[in-house]
Amino acid sequence: MQDKGFMIRQCNDEDLGAIYNIINDAAMVYKGIIPADRWKEPYMSTDELKHEIADGVVFWGIEDDGELTGVMGIQNVQDVTLIRHAYVRTGKRNRGIGSELLTFLRTLTASPILIGTWADAVWAIRFYEKHGFRPVSHEEKTRLLKKYWSIPDRQVETSVVLAEA
Ligand SMILES: CC(C)(COP(=O)(O)OP(=O)(O)OC[C@H]1O[C@@H](n2cnc3c(N)ncnc32)[C@H](O)[C@@H]1OP(=O)(O)O)[C@@H](O)C(=O)NCCC(=O)NCCS
Repeated sequence: MQDKGFMIRQCNDEDLGAIYNIINDAAMVYKGIIPADRWKEPYMSTDELKHEIADGVVFWGIEDDGELTGVMGIQNVQDVTLIRHAYVRTGKRNRGIGSELLTFLRTLTASPILIGTWADAVWAIRFYEKHGFRPVSHEEKTRLLKKYWSIPDRQVETSVVLAEA
């Protein structure tokens, strides 16, 4: 898909290194913001990334001048679709790349979409709110995270879930 000079395409095995670089570059913004016991460097190891893909996360990316600059994953789980691992390179933010990817991924599913992020990532929550998503209640997010995500209890405590309004 070509729009605004960006090209959206599904990522493949050859993109693994670029996806890893984008995630771990973009995730630096979490350092000192998310709870210290949840932070590690690199934020996501290659093994964790491969595990996510094996688990059904399909990454799509945006190329800008032939270089992958943002990635976002989509994962069908039971009766819902999760948007996972949304990352745009630090120097390429606020140019509409994240919006393009999110808008595109929404066209790929007819199931309800859920998005989980850190409760402290206020910029990410605002980004999703601008796209019509709303945080669900505390009780509901705990139920949803335990039903659809495979994350430790501590991450359940420190996360929020957004659903289409
Ligand atoms: C969240 C994230 C993926 C959004 O990607 P992005 O490419 O910066 O998103 P956009 O550019 O589409 O939108 C971001 C802002 O830029 C604004 N914007 C969009 N197009 C723009 C343009 N052409 N010129 C100027 N501003 C623009 C948007 O209105 C939005 O404003 P807001 O911050 O007030 O909501 C990105 O910031 C990121 O990687 N953050 C770090 C990791 C993270 O938090 N990921 C979420 C994990 S779930």
